[in-house]
Amino acid sequence: MADDLAFGAGPAPAFDGRIDTATGDDPVVATLVAHQTLLRAYQARYVVLPETLPGASVVEAMARHYAPDRLRALTEARPTLETRLIGPLAAQADAAEPKTDVLAYIDHLLTELRSVNSDAVLDRIDGHPRAEAHYRNFLVQSSADLLAEASASALGVIGECGAPQSALFRILIDEFGYGTHDRKHAVLYRSTLRSFGLDDAYNRYWPLFDGPTLALHNTIHWLFQNPANFFRQIGFLLFAETAYQRSTLCHSRFLARAFPKADARYFTEHAHIDLHHTRMVIDEVVVPLLDRFGPEIGQEIVRGAELTRLVFRLAGDNAVALVGAFDAAGGDARYGLEAVEGGRLVSPAGAGIRGRVQVGAIGTVSARTFGAFPVHAVGRLVEVAT
Ligand SMILES: [Fe+2]
Ligand SMILES: [Fe+2]
Repeated sequence: MADDLAFGAGPAPAFDGRIDTATGDDPVVATLVAHQTLLRAYQARYVVLPETLPGASVVEAMARHYAPDRLRALTEARPTLETRLIGPLAAQADAAEPKTDVLAYIDHLLTELRSVNSDAVLDRIDGHPRAEAHYRNFLVQSSADLLAEASASALGVIGECGAPQSALFRILIDEFGYGTHDRKHAVLYRSTLRSFGLDDAYNRYWPLFDGPTLALHNTIHWLFQNPANFFRQIGFLLFAETAYQRSTLCHSRFLARAFPKADARYFTEHAHIDLHHTRMVIDEVVVPLLDRFGPEIGQEIVRGAELTRLVFRLAGDNAVALVGAFDAAGGDARYGLEAVEGGRLVSPAGAGIRGRVQVGAIGTVSARTFGAFPVHAVGRLVEVAT
């Protein structure tokens, strides 16, 4: 399928539509390519402009990037990809959902999430001699969403759904800096990236996004780009706004300690404002909707929250596993970004024994060493020994 959709590169990265080609029969690579296709389909629903004039004409570049043929192909591919990629995750979250009253569930969730004082990834890299490389990778993977933060959830706000819509809209405009560009969360995030020497252009690190990263962000888009998921979207907001209060506090403390020169405003802002966002979701969205539609929607809200918990956990587990895999590589590992573009995608099963493999933004290992990485890892061949 990806062969049919392997659109050419436009002026990178804003109008870059490339999707990797899944060569051979490596299922890990095929899944990653499918996720790339789905994310391109979702991203094609909103505008991203480059910082400067791309080539001779921005109008022509946009016409190419948002061409009806490209959009039609992505739109047609989307339902099958959603069933294949998001369906199993949603089913897993549905199975895990507690059969409880949603308000009791929320009480429990708030107590649970607000007692969290650590973050699995930060715990793993705090004090680690290569903390910077791993943290840079965390920033790069998160950039898949955070450089257009809340654009995914914006699609859940349009339409007409009564008074809760106005509360959702107030949360949304907070995410966009309440009309002040410098306070927009994506703008704060760009500054954090730059303070780690990273490029802040949207999708600059597209070739480095790994499977759990794409699964996480595609799940968020799936929630919000399908209106039938409206009540699950509220579950997402409930979980994400609450979990973020604590995780961003952990990040701001970690940065103050380990990288005091880094711009941590993105994290300090969330540790504060998301307290309000959780309250707004509960008082102004969940409660009135329950009054209006009854307990049936409670189950949907719980499903959305549990799905959010699942995909964030899978992304965190993967980041922790990669720290361990790089540690095990010992002297074979070279840390840092050797190449953003790199060559073809490989998994540990298909890497062979020649060349080096760039894994996310962490660094490179030899293909032979990469063969012992977690089976779902992906990387790019960056040099082939002759
Ligand atoms: Fe935000
Ligand atoms: Fe928020």
